[in-house]
Amino acid sequence: MNAVIDQIGDLAEAGEKMIERLRRKAFLPESRKELNVRFGIAEAAQLLGCSTNRIRMAEDDGRLPPAPPTENGRRPGYTVEELLNMRSVLGASPERAPLDIPAIVAVQNFKGGVGKSTVTCHLAHYFAVQGYRVLVVDCDSQATTTTLFGFNPHFNIQREETLYPYLSIDPTQTDLLYAVKHTAWPNVDLIPSNLELFDVEYELAAAGSDGGSVLAARFRKLKKGLADLARNYDIVLLDPPPALGTISLAVMQAANALLVPLAATTPDFCSTVQFLSMMDQVLAQLRQAGIDVDYQFIRLICSKYDANDPSHAMVRAILEQSFGPALLPVPILESAEISHAALRMMSVYELERPIGTPRTHKRCRANLDEALGQVEALVRQSWGRVTPAREEDIVNAA
Ligand SMILES: Nc1ncnc2c1ncn2[C@@H]1O[C@H](COP(=O)(O)OP(=O)(O)O)[C@@H](O)[C@H]1O
Ligand SMILES: [Mg+2]
Repeated sequence: MNAVIDQIGDLAEAGEKMIERLRRKAFLPESRKELNVRFGIAEAAQLLGCSTNRIRMAEDDGRLPPAPPTENGRRPGYTVEELLNMRSVLGASPERAPLDIPAIVAVQNFKGGVGKSTVTCHLAHYFAVQGYRVLVVDCDSQATTTTLFGFNPHFNIQREETLYPYLSIDPTQTDLLYAVKHTAWPNVDLIPSNLELFDVEYELAAAGSDGGSVLAARFRKLKKGLADLARNYDIVLLDPPPALGTISLAVMQAANALLVPLAATTPDFCSTVQFLSMMDQVLAQLRQAGIDVDYQFIRLICSKYDANDPSHAMVRAILEQSFGPALLPVPILESAEISHAALRMMSVYELERPIGTPRTHKRCRANLDEALGQVEALVRQSWGRVTPAREEDIVNAA
């Protein structure tokens, strides 16, 4: 036996133990995280686009439950659930009209570490705070997004709970409802993933000469399954694996919009260019095979922009020159708040209080709102509706 090789098992075991310890700290017993974020009345009013008075009046006349009692002279604030109820009572829901097509956004790039899972997770929680109904589909067997949602892909997720039974060569499921899990967010659901989802890729390779027809069947199936599920949501976010395989291709085909995250670094720029040219070829091949892919929008977003690093500014200028308006103007800033939240298996939107200084937290949150709001605007545009006028604006204009 090779003693050095044996170390690999020991390292894996030590790592597993640590993950389990982190998980116990971060998660409830049934592996559902608790959501403890609260919104003050001013923040709630701003999110709803109404005055605090309108909320107070509805609380006084019984349309809304009474305001939470004060604790130590301060109100604890509203939960996400209460905020959603407020939206529906006060007619401030941003949900799409029944005939609007739900956005099915693939957050894709063939490079790992560009921020796909971070962007997916923060987008989901951003949309949730804004009052949309969100479904997140973790299509990556590395399952970072599943982890960020508080599930341990090793311990809590079985292969039967992932996309596997639906996409397998011997499918045991005919629709995707079985895989939808509730999360700590009342308006965000998740289809989780784990390492075993990768078997889908092996199976296709093993299918040999039948591979082509199996592939085409998978494409149709994922697209149909997701389109059926999407009827219950406003936004579906897909986090595909960082490689060109069966699942990635199926995801690209099932999506109706594409968001490409990348850092403002030369390696990310180069691999993104490669990704785009590969996509171009693949889409042409799909079209030849009679499989049409149609996107409402394609945008690139800088996912970890460091404003203090001159090289980032240089690469960003290159990105602007190359991609023009397809590059979203507001980048997501690199922030310790994001990486520290990830360590707790959370998004910044789930933090009850800042991890770093209040200033760092506030800046990070404001930047995320602005950067992710760009995606919200694109989604709403494809619904053919403009943002409803805010009560404040009407009052101010009068
Ligand atoms: N804006 C950001 N600020 C700080 N860290 C970030 C930011 N975006 C991503 N990260 C970190 O970068 C790493 C890779 O991100 P991840 O979303 O897992 O990439 P991918 O899904 O593309 O592989 C993670 O450790 C994540 O916490
Ligand atoms: Mg990822």
